[in-house]
Amino acid sequence: MSVYQHITGTFDLLPDTYAAGGTTFHSTAAWRALEQHIRQLAIRFGFQEIRTPILEPTELIARGLGGATDVVSKEMFAFEREGTRYVLRPELTAPVMRSVVERRLDQKGVQKLFYIGPCFRAERPQKGRYRQFHQFGVELLGSPDPIADAEVILFMLEVYRSLGIENTKLRLNNLGDAASRAAYRDALQTYFAPHAELLSETSRKRLETNPLRILDTKLPHERALLEGAPKLSAFISDEASDHYEKVKSFLRDAGQPFVEDPYLVRGLDYYNRTAFELESPDLGAQSALAGGGRYDGLASEIGASVPIPAVGFAAGIERLFIALEAKGFAFAQPEVPDVYVLGLDPDSEAVAFGLTQHLRRAQLHVRMPLKKASFKNMMKEATSSGATWLVLIGETERQTLTAQVKHLARREQTAVPFDALLDFLTQNA
Ligand code: HAM
Repeated sequence: MSVYQHITGTFDLLPDTYAAGGTTFHSTAAWRALEQHIRQLAIRFGFQEIRTPILEPTELIARGLGGATDVVSKEMFAFEREGTRYVLRPELTAPVMRSVVERRLDQKGVQKLFYIGPCFRAERPQKGRYRQFHQFGVELLGSPDPIADAEVILFMLEVYRSLGIENTKLRLNNLGDAASRAAYRDALQTYFAPHAELLSETSRKRLETNPLRILDTKLPHERALLEGAPKLSAFISDEASDHYEKVKSFLRDAGQPFVEDPYLVRGLDYYNRTAFELESPDLGAQSALAGGGRYDGLASEIGASVPIPAVGFAAGIERLFIALEAKGFAFAQPEVPDVYVLGLDPDSEAVAFGLTQHLRRAQLHVRMPLKKASFKNMMKEATSSGATWLVLIGETERQTLTAQVKHLARREQTAVPFDALLDFLTQNA
């Protein structure tokens, strides 16, 4: 029988860092440290954690993100069971909004929520693009004010800056409100209709279903056609323009550089007004570290009886790792024990086991061998564990209630009574 393999586009995270297929998969210790850093920063910025299920109703995601988006039309891991349709969440904005509406959190005033967790999209896997990947992000709900947009954007940037990633580019665009977008959609369709045969198959489809996404094209001849196309900015209301100007002014006041990109449209349909992406030159083809924007219409789209203005962003953690690697970041290493306790005969092993539990209760990180081996091999294991101290217990030590304590790096050995062991280990650390 052949050995089962992980599903393409997913990966295991292991205690130690490993490389496979040209990608480095960092240790769970490195992931934990990075997640902890993000959590602490989010909390310092006044965001509170929300955890929603991995499974959501397919209808929520399809309605929320838009049926014509790539994510909904091509990339959902969806299935049906006993008449209910489920999807593995491809993102968290719609799920978070579902939760806020369902639990009436919006009635408690402005909500600042953050999350970290896995998402699933059936994309073609490559470096920085996976089928199970991890996002961190925030959603700020209940404020229509431009300062909320700036708050979200500045938090996003601070995550990268606090980790030493400074070479990013913030791109901004104003998508206007629903009415402007509908009018612009018609204008684009009218403009492109006579040129339809010059468009790629993807863009021809988008012309029917989602014309704004044509702005996203990387093909030079389509870019050239776009030069002559109507501009979204011409369709935007004074109110939406004013909002956008204020967001930019908050960013300028904060000393945050940005570039405006009239072709930035984002791949999900719920956005209005501010849209943004953060790019890194270290990511190659998958250049987006993070992206987000305002989505004032989403709550109503998924059935809320009152509108809930909202703005947020999400970022890929795998891409954050790639950007950190490029900087030569010193990733957290797997934890090493403070103490390794070795009982040299069966009776001593029982004493060692008791001591081990005692020291652990006192907050020390303690390991002991859990399999019979020769003295030489146990010593080898103790040394390679990286422990600071080795505590040895043999027949004499058992009888005198005194352990031999060795500092493994300094190679110093001391006899320490059992009842003084904890003090000795903590005071001589
Ligand atoms: P998104 O642009 O689809 O937005 O995804 C956000 C980030 O997730 C991307 O910039 C990228 O770093 C990462 N990402 C997306 N797909 C993959 C993948 N297949 N493999 C690895 N990383 C990936 C959203 O998801 C919105 N919910 C963001 C948002 C929050 N808008 C408002 N609030």
